[in-house]
Amino acid sequence: MVDVAQALDEGGLTNKYVRDYVAEWAELTGADRVEVVSAADDARLIAEALEAGEIQPAGEGLYYSRSYFKDTARSEERTIVATNRPEDRGIYNNWRPASEMKPLLMDKMRGASAGKTMYVIPYLMAPPGSPLERYAAGVELTDNRSVVLHMIRMARVDASYINDLDDQDSFVRAVHVTGDLENLGQGTPHDQRYFVTVADERTILHFGSSYGGNALLGKIAHGLRQGSYDGWASGKFLVEQFMLLGITDKETGKKYHICGGFPSASGKTNLAMTLAPDALGDRYYVEFYGDDIAWLWVGDDGKLYGMNPENGVFGVAKDTNADTNPTALDSIEPGTQALFTNVAYNEDTHEVWWEGKTKNPPSEITGWRDWKGNLISERSEDEADEPWAHPNSRFTTTLANVPNVAKDFEDPKGVPIDAIIFGGRTRDREPLIRAITDVAEGVYDGLTLGAEATFAADGLDGQLRYDPMSMRPFMSYPEGAYAAHWLKIIGEATEKPIFAHVNWFQKDPEDGHFLWPGYRENLRPLIWLMQLKNGEVEGNKTPVGIIPTREELNLDGLEIGEDLDRILAIDEERWRQEMGFREGHLSQFDGLPEEIWEAHRRVAGDLGL
Ligand code: GDP
Ligand code: PGA
Ligand code: MN
Ligand code: MN
Repeated sequence: MVDVAQALDEGGLTNKYVRDYVAEWAELTGADRVEVVSAADDARLIAEALEAGEIQPAGEGLYYSRSYFKDTARSEERTIVATNRPEDRGIYNNWRPASEMKPLLMDKMRGASAGKTMYVIPYLMAPPGSPLERYAAGVELTDNRSVVLHMIRMARVDASYINDLDDQDSFVRAVHVTGDLENLGQGTPHDQRYFVTVADERTILHFGSSYGGNALLGKIAHGLRQGSYDGWASGKFLVEQFMLLGITDKETGKKYHICGGFPSASGKTNLAMTLAPDALGDRYYVEFYGDDIAWLWVGDDGKLYGMNPENGVFGVAKDTNADTNPTALDSIEPGTQALFTNVAYNEDTHEVWWEGKTKNPPSEITGWRDWKGNLISERSEDEADEPWAHPNSRFTTTLANVPNVAKDFEDPKGVPIDAIIFGGRTRDREPLIRAITDVAEGVYDGLTLGAEATFAADGLDGQLRYDPMSMRPFMSYPEGAYAAHWLKIIGEATEKPIFAHVNWFQKDPEDGHFLWPGYRENLRPLIWLMQLKNGEVEGNKTPVGIIPTREELNLDGLEIGEDLDRILAIDEERWRQEMGFREGHLSQFDGLPEEIWEAHRRVAGDLGL
């Protein structure tokens, strides 16, 4: 039997409730050793993981690892929100009774960490001192060292964040057991994986994956699912899959903060990281706050505030290059201690490569292995066109490595929110940007976000679907209540944010090229949105929002011809058809507030329906 008390003493973990929790799960999972970790242990853990062959060197202070080939993305159908309240069942949360799921997960986990170390990761999903700090503390237990290395980058990890908490419920219990990945029947009718958040007990039980989105429990399970449940149950805050950025207009000295939701792998990280102020003269300065999660609340001064609970970036590698996202490349330079997962790797030179890093793959293929670990030189003719890197391959780096991270990114006060935007991959219908000034209509717009699913969710790539506020995979409580909670929180703010819907992904139906250059150029429509909020431009009113005129958009240094006219236009016929789909979508939600239906009818009426 492992001496848990001694291990916890050595790790400086004094909180009685946490100690009891660790002891209980160490016994159940049958781990051989228990070890408390903090960010200060990173160098040692890296050395151990290199020694054990779990990671490989990828340049100075850079590391590479591969996950099991059936374990490369979040699994939505295996993800469950369980509670003791049947009324918590929603359309998207795959609700199950806690009384059914807890024993089931305990059975899966029983003895499943035998022979392994159970790492104890005390973490905080907030800048220390945040008004939401009491919802942000947690302790992940994992039997996977690579998960520890990722958590140290993505969250603030130290026993001091939890030692002084003085009641049972003041930290999230987050248990991760990897399981025997080669025998879990991933994607078959006998799938053994379960990713369960027991939301009203603030307990997360994930079994059967070591992929980040399923295994970094501070990030997605706590940072999004548990957080949004707590935000609703307390009536105090919103938790969303949002990026968060700041734009300073150096001419007026004014600073704006914009946050917004796009489904996974639809451009949040790129938008927050890589806007190109240099393209617009020297007038603007853009700062990075967060790329995947924002918690929003109304401060004592009545303003809407937002903060990024994370400490790092878990970015999609594909198409990251010096043109699309130079900032991302800077943040994974040698010496940054960044991790790469499921990209291609050269075991001789220790280089990494992914599709779109350079125009063509390396011409000298000696030593290169694809994301499955197969040598490129041994590929058959049939396999020649397969990607070298998995489309959902990732880099992981800390916020401090991002060159334009905001100076105040750790300020517990958070930042005042001026605008909330929604977007996604939509090949037609959605223009470049349409602004919405009415709050109910903005919330309605978020609820009817329709976009193509991506490779960040297993097996759904390319499927068109509604993804309310981009929270569909993370929704923890019923959608009607979710809409009401949105209206309540934004309703309490004395200064209302402006809303907008953006789309960087409209395509030419004939040759399929993107009509908008995207990436660094996405700053241009955001500047217009701020000007609209300030009353400096008027735009064109349409039934679905205000659209910029060609003249109002700053197009300096950008060559774009009639493609721009197409993305600044509304196809009303297509929109009328969309309204019917929206009606069906919203009708699924019990208790949807009347204000949302009113907004829907107003838009429909303006479209002549
Ligand atoms: P996130 O998962 O929402 O954070 O999305 P990312 O910013 O990581 O982007 C996902 C994928 O979309 C990457 O392959 C990006 O290269 C690509 N992408 C991001 N922004 C744009 C854009 O403005 N235009 C185009 N065409 N692709 C983009
Ligand atoms: P993403 O984050 O939104 O940047 O893809 C990870 C995820 O949502 O799975
Ligand atoms: Mn995400
Ligand atoms: Mn991202």
